[in-house]
Amino acid sequence: MIQPTLDSLRTFLHILAVCVWLGGQIVLAGVVPKLRKTNPDALSDIAKGFAAIAWPAMILIVFTGAWGLAEIDTADQSSAYMVTFGIKMLLVGTAIIATLIHSTGTSKIAKGLGGAIGLLATLFAAYCGVLLAHVG
Ligand code: HEM
Repeated sequence: MIQPTLDSLRTFLHILAVCVWLGGQIVLAGVVPKLRKTNPDALSDIAKGFAAIAWPAMILIVFTGAWGLAEIDTADQSSAYMVTFGIKMLLVGTAIIATLIHSTGTSKIAKGLGGAIGLLATLFAAYCGVLLAHVG
């Protein structure tokens, strides 16, 4: 058996939290339109239920991400790596702000655009993460 390491545990927790935040949004994107037709009253409970696990997941993402960053000697990294990391952080900030607008907004446009931008920014942040870890 390969010996577990703290690094691998940190990466596992980072990916697990991303699965909850990103995977949950993708699943809801499939479920919500159907529910809106068949059982619109259930929507706010679904949203509250997801938010109750999604935001703690985002806290875990940021914690394990910052921990991962602390383990990396940024002076040793290429400018391409640092630019990619900078773009990823911009996308993460956009994802958090857009999702906050989606969850607190009352208008259709705030909910629709906030949700769409939040999901897209998270998708691109995830790809930047893979570039950092596996190409960088
Ligand atoms: C929406 C938010 C985020 C998503 C979707 C995301 C996604 C990912 C993914 C998929 C990986 C690759 C894991 C692997 O295969 O090893 C990764 C790695 C990483 N992420 Fe994130 N991440 C997010 C936020 C953050 C934040 C906020 C930070 C820092 C504060 C961060 C720092 C890192 C670092 C340092 C790595 C490892 C890079 C390396 O191994 O060189 N991430 N991220």
